[in-house]
Amino acid sequence: MPPNLQAYRGSLLHFLADPAFSADAHVYHADGLLIVADGKVQAAGDYASLHATLPPATPVHDYRGKLLMPGFIDTHVHYPQTDMIASPADGLLPWLETYTFPTERQFEDPAHAGQVAEFFLDELLRCGTTTAMVYCTVHPQSVDAFFAASERRGLRMVAGKVLMDRHCPEFLRDTAEGGARDTEALIQRWHKRGRALYAITPRFAPTSTDAQLHLAGELAGAYPDTFIQTHVSENQAECAWVHELFPQARSYIDVYDSVGLLRPRAMYGHCIWLDETDRARMAASGAAAAICPTSNLFLGSGLFDFAAADAAGMALSLATDVGGGSSFSMLQTMNEAYKVARLKGHYLPALRMFYLATLGAARSMQLEGVIGNFAAGAEADFIVLDPAATPLLERRNRAWQDAGASLEELLFALALLGDDRAVAATYAAGQPVYRRAAA
Ligand code: GUN
Ligand code: ZN
Repeated sequence: MPPNLQAYRGSLLHFLADPAFSADAHVYHADGLLIVADGKVQAAGDYASLHATLPPATPVHDYRGKLLMPGFIDTHVHYPQTDMIASPADGLLPWLETYTFPTERQFEDPAHAGQVAEFFLDELLRCGTTTAMVYCTVHPQSVDAFFAASERRGLRMVAGKVLMDRHCPEFLRDTAEGGARDTEALIQRWHKRGRALYAITPRFAPTSTDAQLHLAGELAGAYPDTFIQTHVSENQAECAWVHELFPQARSYIDVYDSVGLLRPRAMYGHCIWLDETDRARMAASGAAAAICPTSNLFLGSGLFDFAAADAAGMALSLATDVGGGSSFSMLQTMNEAYKVARLKGHYLPALRMFYLATLGAARSMQLEGVIGNFAAGAEADFIVLDPAATPLLERRNRAWQDAGASLEELLFALALLGDDRAVAATYAAGQPVYRRAAA
């Protein structure tokens, strides 16, 4: 059977390397064409040269004036916290006690979990996010509800059951053995089923006993192509607590390292209060950082140090961390990342931010070639961004163009001024999964 061919014309941007370390990291075609066959990228390039290669009846969707790029990847987000976004507290630990734990309790009910998962995924797609690394709750049914909703939409999603056997309310507590047993059953049920991928998910070191962390490490060794996700060095009170709970550990990251949780496909949220030894160890292990600027500013946790992370050679990605994060939009996340970098004396170019939200994340997850750019054979998860989505963006963009602006300048305005309104359409595996309502 001939493949299902579709083509999309518009400005086209994707990355082949990290712009911080390579002069020709990005590929841009002002008048580009993306050709999709059976849900995968067949080719991406100049309209003028590629159009001639299409069989005559191929549909060509006209997105001229808009920007086609790979879907955003959010490497750290909590779907059960959707309904408690924007809850005020004077720091991480009181925020967890007051809002997070009572909210997560509701996910014992599969119907509630399913309904929140549907809203959450709709919201991601409205914001142009096609893949996320997602925390569920301690309840296995919260994972089933999430993956079922994501499977219905055909999305490449990574998720896992939270492991938490101490320092939390009784109603959210599992046991070391029970949590490991549930995790293994969920890996067998969901990992690599369709586009689903499983993440072993100890919430963070303070809420797991040594026994639970050891069992999580054993599972990570037994299933080496699963993901791992947890929090590290987010907040100073949290770091002091970890120091008390694990006096034998050299550092917070060492608690995870000593049980085998530092390896490729491990995603560490925050990574603010690390030292040089921690950064070097993360880089050497292949574990990656999920940088969560809206959350870190909202909870007053601290400022991620981009220069130190780059000097150590750490794998980096951007993440919303909703509900600690205050926006689902990766454009708003870039906006805040830029300002966090400025406050640390570092300059973060727009091209680097778009890289971190696409190929940088895919590389951090060892998924290059699967998602994150328009390499031939990659899954066709892509978005259509509208650089004139709002009156202000339209005006700013026109002023830039009249001044002969560079791609960097145009992308910068999109990152600083854009949000969900800048996403005109979202496609997953070549299928339309969101289209902005016509004005
Ligand atoms: N540390 C442990 N749990 C959480 C959480 O749910 N959100 C954030 N931001 N940090 C955490
Ligand atoms: Zn988090």
